[in-house]
Formats: sequence, structure tokens, C-alpha cells
Amino acid sequence: MADNYLENKFDEFRQRKSAPTTKSGHSLDSLLKKNRSYRGYDSSWKVPVSVLEKMVEVTQWVPTGKNQQAFRFKLVTEESEVRTVTENVKMGALLPELHLPTPGTEPPAYIIVCTTVPECKRVQVDAGIAVQSMLLKAVEMGYNGLIIAAFNATKLTEAFALPYPPVLVLAVGKGAEKIEMTEISAEESHNYWRENGVHYVPKVRWQELII
Ligand SMILES: Cc1cc2nc3c(=O)[nH]c(=O)nc-3n(C[C@H](O)[C@H](O)[C@H](O)COP(=O)(O)O)c2cc1C
Repeated sequence: MADNYLENKFDEFRQRKSAPTTKSGHSLDSLLKKNRSYRGYDSSWKVPVSVLEKMVEVTQWVPTGKNQQAFRFKLVTEESEVRTVTENVKMGALLPELHLPTPGTEPPAYIIVCTTVPECKRVQVDAGIAVQSMLLKAVEMGYNGLIIAAFNATKLTEAFALPYPPVLVLAVGKGAEKIEMTEISAEESHNYWRENGVHYVPKVRWQELII
């Protein structure tokens, strides 16, 4: 028992020591934990195009099936264009009564992710890898975001004269919500909920994920 305790403590210490940190002092674990889905943003924080460009930059280094690198990105920061995107995306499907985002907390910027090849399972997997990497970069830079699959593709394609069909939309800004993760067992409801101004996101404890 005592031996195990010491061994575990030593492992913890070794992991902490060897956990790589980024320039800004973030470990991968802390970036992942901070990278929550925000559906309300601080309107006083604008997002410079350079931030969106840095998010796109990381996609140069991520894997894609058959190394296809099919994505092209439309950066949206201009106010009326941002409004057009907001009007054509849906947020918080599990909390329809809240009509998120609440007025005044709309995202200040978006990235529309388009594909140069027909959408298929591989493209969808690639899109997930790309956008999660982009959001981790956003968090590292002090921003937050949201992956949006519920959007009006026809309207966005028309409004922005997109040369390729959109597969996902990313909202980007400085999150203005209090979000907490809670640990649940696999059988419990996975629905996120809000209580006393806090957005709770239940996450199945990892030990139950191994089959
Ligand atoms: C592929 C994908 C598509 C998503 N689409 C939407 C969406 O259309 N609207 C939305 O509000 N959230 C969307 N989300 C965010 C999820 O609802 C969110 O990840 C989930 O509630 C867990 O919260 P967390 O990201 O903070 O862990 C999407 C997430 C993923 C990964």
C-alpha cells in the first residue's frame, strides 16, 4: 500500500515535470480543458484578422487523410458580414428556450471552413482535426470559440460568394460565459445545462471509456 502510494506520487511528479508547456505556459491538458464551447462573447473584444490567420496557420501542420489538405478558410470580422453569419448559424440546440446567443453577446468573428473536395467521412474527420487544432490555438492566444455544424450552407455560400461549399463554421471571440465541466458516468444524461449563470458540461469519466 505504502509502496504504491510513493510510486503513484513519484509518477505524478514525473508527469508534472515532463509535461511540456507552451510559450504562454499552457500545458496541452490545460489548453484542452480551457477549450470549451462558448455561445456568448464579450462585445468589447474585437478579434484582429491576424488572430484568425494564426488559427489558419496551424492547419498547415495537422494531418489530413491522403494528405489532401482540402480546406479553404473565409475569415469574417467585418461587422455586417459577422451579422450575416450570426443570422445563419444555430447555437445551443439543447437549450432552445434561451435562443443563444443572447443579444449583445454574439460572436465578433467567424471562420467559415470550406472544402475543395466533395464532403465524405474522411473530409469530416479532417475537418474535426483542423478546427479543434485551430481552437486550441485560439485558446493559447487568449480567445475562445465554438464549432458550429448547424448553419445554413446555401445562405452562407450565396452571401459570401464562397467558391467551395462550407463544412463547418467557427465562432471566435473572448468568451463571456462561466463554463464548468462535471464528471459523470456513461449512463447519465450527456445534456449540458445552465444553473445560476453557469453553463455545465457533463463529461464521462475517462476510465469508463476504455472497452
Ligand atoms: C462537430 C461539432 C459540431 C458542433 N456543432 C454545434 C452547433 O452547431 N451549435 C452549437 O451550439 N454547438 C455545436 N457544437 C458544440 C458542442 O455542442 C459542444 O462541443 C458540446 O456541448 C460539449 O461542450 P464543450 O465543447 O464545452 O466540451 C459542435 C461541436 C462539434 C464537435
